[in-house]
Amino acid sequence: MAGINYSDKIPNNVNLDDDPRLQRALENWQPKFLDWWKELGPHNALNHDVYLRTAVSVEPSGWAHFDYVKMPEYRWGIFLAPAEKDRKVNFGKHKGDAAWQQVPGEYRSELRRLIVTQGDTEPASVEQQRKLGLTAPSLYDLRNLYQVNVEEGRHLWAMVYLLHAYFGRDGREEAEAMLERHAGNPDKPRILQAFNVDTTDWLSFHLFTYFQDRDGKFQLAALSESGFDPLSRTCRFMLTEEAHHLFVGESGISRIVQRTAEIMKENKLSDPMDVRKFGGIDFPTLQKYINFHYSICLDLFGQELSTNAATYYTMGIKGRYGETKIADDHVLEGMTYRVPGVQGEKIIESDEPALNAINQRLRDDYATDSQRGMDGFNKIIAAHGINFTLTLPNRAFHRNIGPFAQVRTTPTGQIITQAEWDKRHGDWLPTAEDKAYIQSLMKPVLEIGKFANYIAPPQRGINRQPVDFEYVKFH
Ligand SMILES: [Fe+2]
Ligand SMILES: [Fe+2]
Repeated sequence: MAGINYSDKIPNNVNLDDDPRLQRALENWQPKFLDWWKELGPHNALNHDVYLRTAVSVEPSGWAHFDYVKMPEYRWGIFLAPAEKDRKVNFGKHKGDAAWQQVPGEYRSELRRLIVTQGDTEPASVEQQRKLGLTAPSLYDLRNLYQVNVEEGRHLWAMVYLLHAYFGRDGREEAEAMLERHAGNPDKPRILQAFNVDTTDWLSFHLFTYFQDRDGKFQLAALSESGFDPLSRTCRFMLTEEAHHLFVGESGISRIVQRTAEIMKENKLSDPMDVRKFGGIDFPTLQKYINFHYSICLDLFGQELSTNAATYYTMGIKGRYGETKIADDHVLEGMTYRVPGVQGEKIIESDEPALNAINQRLRDDYATDSQRGMDGFNKIIAAHGINFTLTLPNRAFHRNIGPFAQVRTTPTGQIITQAEWDKRHGDWLPTAEDKAYIQSLMKPVLEIGKFANYIAPPQRGINRQPVDFEYVKFH
């Protein structure tokens, strides 16, 4: 494997030097990326010195270097996980063939669509989160936000590299379009709906990194099974970075839960809404935000029954989560999978062809993984002697894609009328008043080692630095 030369304009381990045409194409795209970052990246933050990690190798023992960096000078590089010797296509009709080092001509448009859809979410999230720096609850949190942002920028680089290196002229056009679509732009929106809403507060940010970034984890994991080897290797390294984003979300919500539980216990509150009198985020409101984020993320997995997903699977270009660890034939002809649906007034399950249920299986894996963290939050609440349980809403709740888009349900999955929904949805999803309350808490806390009142300090700092480290320096 080639080492990474940081004097290169574009740090990489893909031997960019050996391909001047590709190098020129990327060097041509780089200033456009920087212009985009300056215009739509973190607001008013170009000059901060931020204690960031930068990927400098792909060795598990030490791939990250930590130091102060001004974000426009961050070294966005191209890193692929090491090639696996004799890697094969591990599923679908080409199972057992050598993995492809070039795009198979007949699968070109499908592969391009998968790469573009994934790539589009990366800059989208940076755009969505761009104003959050103005209201950070601490320097520690501000640094984590910027870390996530620069790495989503690198994930865009990862996908743009594939487009430039393997898809010729239309790949170059797609790379340009990545910087032309913008989150929430009515004329040129981002591709997926959940990536078109601004993230306006830090409760939403932590839920975003818990739920949306977890969708990212599962999509990347499914793509890392791809028979197209460069895509697999790119996604495998992206997953290493993604783990930190999920940590930011999970630990962030844990800290909010911790603080709320402390407020309730210290003040002997029995009505959870009284937490607001003490400037905390009450559990019923947190539950509504969970209901919102989880339900829009379930939509990101697509239709419950999908012939597109079946096609991608049979082609060998997008697999299942942990594909090679699943004990079946990895072809799935004649096999079935339990899929939820609606029949009249009831939510039912039926056995459907497993090939058509690839999306649903990934959504189920996502749900299991999402629940694991919820159990941790509930342990914190219970440890304070408080009787409240946070739950994931039913998979039918507040859906916009698939059979459940046709019905209205309660968070526990009872089908209700539109009239009842209109009357009660404010009990289940954040209301204008809830949002205004959360917004009222969003005041920046930028003193070293200090934290906003609604969130507990973390147990430890970043890269073994103390919690009261100067994670961001302003000029
Ligand atoms: Fe990402
Ligand atoms: Fe991420």
